[in-house]
Amino acid sequence: MHAPASLQSTVVNGQPCVLPSTPSASTTLLHVLRNDLSLNGPKYGCGLGQCGACTVLVDGVAARACVIPAHGAAGRDVTTLEGLPARCGKGHGLHPVQQAFIDEQAAQCGYCLNGMVMMAVALLERNPDPDEAAVRSELSANLCRCGTHVEIIRAVLRAAVLMREAQT
Ligand code: FES
Ligand code: FES
Repeated sequence: MHAPASLQSTVVNGQPCVLPSTPSASTTLLHVLRNDLSLNGPKYGCGLGQCGACTVLVDGVAARACVIPAHGAAGRDVTTLEGLPARCGKGHGLHPVQQAFIDEQAAQCGYCLNGMVMMAVALLERNPDPDEAAVRSELSANLCRCGTHVEIIRAVLRAAVLMREAQT
């Protein structure tokens, strides 16, 4: 089955997006990513745009995929957690932000981490040298029910160092 023409132009993780099903007007980008494209990095949390678990990058900007209609991604460049290594020029392995989260053991259950990592990538692409206040501000609307915020903030600051070092 062919996807609607408007959705065929969507690029997901550097690849033209071909959908196996035709989304209705109420189908969200998160649904298409997880259910049709098997990209399970973005998580379903609240489904209301309030927790950040579903965060992806749309044209390089962090966005909540649970409240974006699938047709709203037409013509856009979407990056999920799975696309991060290629985004930093690596064909495989981990993005420095992912590595920093591991280094700082910034997880308990891990459910919020997709959103935290994607927000951190968006921040560090805009601002390679944020201070702690900037990191706190960026992540303030992302929920972590396990209370891992201190380690997460440390991980983002460590990631900034790793990314700057990688460019020298
Ligand atoms: Fe999208 Fe909570 S699942 S913001
Ligand atoms: Fe469990 Fe953040 S580590 S919600």
